[in-house]
Amino acid sequence: MNGHIYDFDTIYDRVPTYAKKWHPSSLEPIFGSGDVLPLWIADMDFAAPPEVVAALRERTEHPVFGYTMRSPAFFESVAAWTERRYGWEIHPDWIVPCPGVVPGIALTIRAFTLPGEGVVIQSPVYPPFFESINKNNRVTTVNRLVEKNGTWEMDLDDLERCLGENASLLLSCSPHNPVGRVWKRAELEAMAERALRSGTLLVSDEIHADIVFRGHAHLPLASLAPEVAARTVTLLAPSKTFNIAGLQTFLAIIPDPDLRRAFRNELESLHLEGGNLFGMLALEIAYGKGEPWLEALLAYLEDNLDFLGNFLRDRLPSVGYVRPEGTYVAWLDFRALGLAPEELQRFLVHEARLALNAGTSFGPGGEGFARLNFACPRTLLSEALTRLADAVFRLEGRRCCPTEA
Ligand SMILES: Cc1ncc(COP(=O)(O)O)c(C=O)c1O
Repeated sequence: MNGHIYDFDTIYDRVPTYAKKWHPSSLEPIFGSGDVLPLWIADMDFAAPPEVVAALRERTEHPVFGYTMRSPAFFESVAAWTERRYGWEIHPDWIVPCPGVVPGIALTIRAFTLPGEGVVIQSPVYPPFFESINKNNRVTTVNRLVEKNGTWEMDLDDLERCLGENASLLLSCSPHNPVGRVWKRAELEAMAERALRSGTLLVSDEIHADIVFRGHAHLPLASLAPEVAARTVTLLAPSKTFNIAGLQTFLAIIPDPDLRRAFRNELESLHLEGGNLFGMLALEIAYGKGEPWLEALLAYLEDNLDFLGNFLRDRLPSVGYVRPEGTYVAWLDFRALGLAPEELQRFLVHEARLALNAGTSFGPGGEGFARLNFACPRTLLSEALTRLADAVFRLEGRRCCPTEA
């Protein structure tokens, strides 16, 4: 561990920093209460790697913060990272930086599809996928994931139907938020083969690529084969990995020069090609020096997962759960409680006093589920699960003995 013992147990008060996850002005409009323990939005309650914090601190010693270019080391650090972590060799020229993965999704939609055309997504999925499609006047075509053999799988027959429905783009999420799948080679190949056969472009949101647990490996879609790379826009970022989402630095990796040109035109038409100087620096340092911290983070998250799994098994058997293979979100199945979606959300907020993402916000297939972000100190996770267990206990008690309630 480079001589470091990294600390993931400290609880930081994030309210004074206007953290979206914690601030009452963000919680109240969404959850109808500010008195909730927030395990929703996907950032972590951990300090960023000390190497990143030190570099940012040092940079502030120079008091001029004008327009800043990305150094060659920025691009080289990305290429070195993809090769080291996923065995994917990329050329630095393929990298097009811009300010967010969701803006990148919107840009690809605008660059490569026409209004009225279909974009296929695999639901339940990260809510802004729907918004990016709808707000750009494209048509969302839903390929539902299916629960099979205690896990989540792609429905490839249905995917073929979706691709046949005037779809010009397939927006995939890998690893998948919220179900936590780290897609295997055969699954990605089957998906890519169908997209290529129908002439559909692939956009692969791989923002969670680095949060992958023991026994699983992230495989970039574009690394499958040159013909897949030629039809794929990959969206990547250090933001989830190193908890630097507020620095708004992300990357589109586009091997094909024509696709790259079209994407860049769209980006430049909005003048979004510049970057945040702190984000640039943080990316370079995180990818260059952050690996030992990341390994320690992954070990801590796996321990949180063990804790979560054991707690659900022992104290919340009515809440279903498939252990995620990657990402730091758990997709909890509350269907056995028999609550309608609005009742479930009310129950979670007002009875359990938790802010979890409502399953319905992830689209078809999300009914009866909620997403819990377990990237927090274990004491917070424990407090959240205890609140949940107490609330479920009261609910079940009321049901079985209504007169005593
Ligand atoms: C799948 C996925 N894509 C994109 C994002 C956010 O991207 P950005 O903040 O870079 O726009 C998230 C954040 O939760 C996510 O889960």
